[in-house]
Amino acid sequence: MRPVEISEHCTWVGALDPQLRVFDVVMPTGEGTTYNAYLVKGAEKTALVDCVKEKFMPQLLANVESLIDPASLDYIVTNHTEPDHGGGLATMLEHAPQAKVVISKTATGFLKGLLKRDVDPILAADGDEIDLGGVKLRFIWAPFLHWPDTMFTYVVEDKVLMPCDFLGCHYCDDRLFDDKVDDFSGAFRYYFDVIMRPFKEFAIKALDKIDQLDIEMIAPSHGPILRSDPKAYLFEYRERASMPSPRKPGDPVSVLIFYASAYGNTEKMAGALADGARQAGAQVATFDATQIDIAEVLPMIEASDGLMVGSPTIVADAVEQIWSLLSHLITIKVKGKYGASFGSYAWSGEAPMMLTNRLKELKFRTPLEPLRAVFTVDEDDLAAARKFGADFAQAVKAGAK
Ligand SMILES: Cc1cc2nc3c(=O)[nH]c(=O)nc-3n(C[C@H](O)[C@H](O)[C@H](O)COP(=O)(O)O)c2cc1C
Ligand SMILES: [Fe+2]
Ligand SMILES: [Fe+2]
Repeated sequence: MRPVEISEHCTWVGALDPQLRVFDVVMPTGEGTTYNAYLVKGAEKTALVDCVKEKFMPQLLANVESLIDPASLDYIVTNHTEPDHGGGLATMLEHAPQAKVVISKTATGFLKGLLKRDVDPILAADGDEIDLGGVKLRFIWAPFLHWPDTMFTYVVEDKVLMPCDFLGCHYCDDRLFDDKVDDFSGAFRYYFDVIMRPFKEFAIKALDKIDQLDIEMIAPSHGPILRSDPKAYLFEYRERASMPSPRKPGDPVSVLIFYASAYGNTEKMAGALADGARQAGAQVATFDATQIDIAEVLPMIEASDGLMVGSPTIVADAVEQIWSLLSHLITIKVKGKYGASFGSYAWSGEAPMMLTNRLKELKFRTPLEPLRAVFTVDEDDLAAARKFGADFAQAVKAGAK
């Protein structure tokens, strides 16, 4: 796609990737994506804000070449070094050997790791500006959105904020602007949930930081450029980053139980755990992990205080659905929540131990040893499970005070 002027000094020079169906291995992208890069031209100097994925560099280069001689580029701003933007930097530097790379201080090590050579970058401090002649770039540190190195670039005179992946989404439409493309609200929400939600405290900090900034247009690294009502998108991010609202003192703690069960034994344990936890004053919900939509339960897990996961031992392992649930917890914040595991088994019974180890690795607090029942779950097992559920709820209550 040809360059698109987005403001007086800024031109979109990125690349479209409409065929992409999975981003970063983990993220389905039904609508493809765009790698947005922007050329900012002042009276004296020119800067490129971000590159694109290496494979798409021919598109970016053609766009830049149609506007300027790449060798005349003065700066290449790298808002964050992930290869979907930084991947093309080495190639860009071959075409613009004089250009200075501008990064945050935190990106120093990443840049070395990415390029495998020294390029003597400019380390932009928070609030630093570069004057291009009639137009200035201001750099705003916004760490962990979603990498430690992330910064935003604000084009002062044009009032254009280039916030890297923040406020972006995987949605490919060559009409480029939010008021021209079709409804991308689902992709926008999904991107927040998967990429930004684990860092929502940092999102709030960044939103506070740019609160007073005069923003006419938000030009993120992926998806539509937001110009119809930039404040509304910032507001939506603030709302989503503020969820769930903290539990008020006096409200019951909440415990969620997820299990899988081939013959019903682990399921019976789950029921008894729920009874015990309820009797101890927790609010409890129980789910068969083979029947859930993980995207739907993740916000519930995030809002909960404790999580119990149960699996029978099948060939010396826990079952896939439970592992899958745990592997999706990377998209929410779970550190400090309470966790426990349980399951029925016939001879070796590894699953509950493996699950508690995983919960520990995910930084759950695990006050109880895993609960195991040998084969058919009987009254004794159920009584033990009720006690376990109650003990767990008590630990959660004590910790939640
Ligand atoms: C295919 C298969 C593999 C199994 N492998 C193991 C195993 O490696 N170790 C073990 O202790 N039990 C093993 N079991 C036994 C189950 O863990 C046991 O039947 C348990 O009670 C099932 O719990 P559920 O009723 O919740 O499905 C296996 C069962 C099946 C069907
Ligand atoms: Fe990224
Ligand atoms: Fe990205």
